[in-house]
Amino acid sequence: MRCVALPPPVLRGKVSLEEAVMRRRSIRKYSARPLSIEEISQILWAAYGISDPMEGRHTAPSAGALYPIRIYLVLGEGPLEPGIYKYKPHRHELCLIKRGDPREELYEASLEQEWILDAPAVLVIAADFTVTTSVYGNRGIRYVWMEFGHVSENVYLQAAAMGLGTVAVGAFADEEVKRILGIEEEVGYLMPLGHPL
Ligand SMILES: Cc1cc2nc3c(=O)[nH]c(=O)nc-3n(C[C@H](O)[C@H](O)[C@H](O)COP(=O)(O)O)c2cc1C
Repeated sequence: MRCVALPPPVLRGKVSLEEAVMRRRSIRKYSARPLSIEEISQILWAAYGISDPMEGRHTAPSAGALYPIRIYLVLGEGPLEPGIYKYKPHRHELCLIKRGDPREELYEASLEQEWILDAPAVLVIAADFTVTTSVYGNRGIRYVWMEFGHVSENVYLQAAAMGLGTVAVGAFADEEVKRILGIEEEVGYLMPLGHPL
C-alpha cells in the first residue's frame, strides 16, 4: 500500500464558525479545478482527524469512543494519481488502495447524480458497524448512523470555511458502491468535493 503524508491541518481559518454555519449549503456544480493537497488534508482532518493524540480522540464524537468510521477519498483529478485512497487518521496520511478514476462507475451507482462525476474528488464516509455493535448490540446500529451525520457536518462546515463545495449524497446502490471501491464496510454518504462553479 503506497501512503502519502498529508500536510498538518491549519487550526486558525479566515472564516468564523458562525459564518461557516451560515454559509453551509449543498453544492452541486463544480469547476474542473483540482483540489490542492492542503485542501484535501484540511477536509480529511476536519472529517475525522485526530484532535487529541494523547487520548486518541477524533474531530467527530463517537459512542463509547469506539470510532467505527472509515474514510475513503476517490480522486479523479488532483495532486496525487487518480485512484481510491484510505485516510489513516492517526498518521494523517492517505494510502492508495486501488488505481484509476472510478467516478463514472460511482456516478452510475448513485442514480446518475452529475455532481459525483463533475467534482474532482469524492469523499466516502463508510463504517465498520461491528466495532460498535460488538459493544452496544443492536443499539450500536443507531449510533453508527448518527456518527455518519457528525462526520458529514464537519465536512460541510470545513468546506464552507474554505470556499469549497460539497453535498451529502445518500442515494446510491450500496452493494455497487462497495464493489467499485473494493471495500467491505457499509457506506453512509458520498460527498463530492471541489471548487463551486
Ligand atoms: C440523509 C440525507 C441524504 C441526502 N441525499 C442527497 C442525495 O442523494 N443527493 C443530493 O444531491 N443531495 C442529498 N442530500 C442533500 C439535501 O438535498 C440538502 O441538504 C437539502 O436540499 C437542503 O439544502 P442545504 O444542504 O443546501 O441546506 C441529502 C441530505 C441528507 C441529510
